[in-house]
Amino acid sequence: MIDKINNLLKRVEEFRPQAAAEIEEFRVRMLGRKGEMNDIFEEFKKVSPELKKEFGQKINALKNLIADKIAALKAEMADAEDPSDASLDMTRPGTNDPIGSRHPISTVKNRIVEIFARMGYTVAEGPEIEDDWHVFSALNFPPEHPARDMQDTFFIRKNPDILLRTHTSSIQVRTMEKQKPPIRVICPGRVFRNEAISYRAHCIFHQVEGLYIDENVSFADLKQSILYFAKEMFGEKARIRMRPSYFPFTEPSAEVDVSCNLCGGKGCNVCKHTGWLEIMGCGMVDPNVLEASGIDPKKYSGFAFGMGVERIAMLKYGVKDLRLYFENDVRFLRQFDSVL
Ligand code: PHE
Repeated sequence: MIDKINNLLKRVEEFRPQAAAEIEEFRVRMLGRKGEMNDIFEEFKKVSPELKKEFGQKINALKNLIADKIAALKAEMADAEDPSDASLDMTRPGTNDPIGSRHPISTVKNRIVEIFARMGYTVAEGPEIEDDWHVFSALNFPPEHPARDMQDTFFIRKNPDILLRTHTSSIQVRTMEKQKPPIRVICPGRVFRNEAISYRAHCIFHQVEGLYIDENVSFADLKQSILYFAKEMFGEKARIRMRPSYFPFTEPSAEVDVSCNLCGGKGCNVCKHTGWLEIMGCGMVDPNVLEASGIDPKKYSGFAFGMGVERIAMLKYGVKDLRLYFENDVRFLRQFDSVL
């Protein structure tokens, strides 16, 4: 009897049907009323009582194995023969992964960098976690300057000399320490300020600052460079104006406005009926700053400027709420596909 069981087991294992009909034939031959399993059950009746348990288990296992194999073979065959099976239809179009779009802040940042690159600027980068020297002291900030306040700057509690940079001017200091003039760098990066988040302020935002140092660099060079930038960014009709301002690291300093590109300078909601939009700060690098970085202020002069990328993007796209740039809602982000 054990031979019969083993023999059957072997035939079941070796069974490789070519067509569905063969499986059904096999099922009848094995499990049908006059099938081979039936023969075995008949024989089982004659087994001595002490061997019944052992044989019983073996026979039942064999029966289950045959039933399982038949079910599996049938399912396989049905899959292969079903003409609606997508895995087999080579003519159906594939499913594409959706393609993302560039974040508007990246797009605008790249555009700013690209415009200055055409004027001969190269990109410089620096650390976001900075020290007091590169963010404040080397830039002529007096010790009691309010920017150093805990209210404005994120300091590391264990070591107040370490802080998150509040502007990318720190990159300009690092560049001046490393390079000899002529220097012409554009410094994009993320900056951090201790601000309550609202529609027009955020504790993280992006800046692009620039620095040009050489012999005989004048305020006229600064003005012409900014005008070129404004026209490239906002269109040929763009005009600029400069208002006197103050920064510890530039002297003289100015705030730059660009003519409102929405109303063309006539006055509207966005420009608060002034016809002008503020876009950046700038000025001639203070001699103290040059000296702190080892550059001779008697021989060299230069200008610096800095702007917020979010602000330029808001003006460019007419976005009124800054927070939208940080929420990563794809419904918002998708609208900026190839706008620039
Ligand atoms: N660092 C200034 C800021 O963060 C911008 C600036 C850069 C102004 C260079 C003048 C010159 O607001």
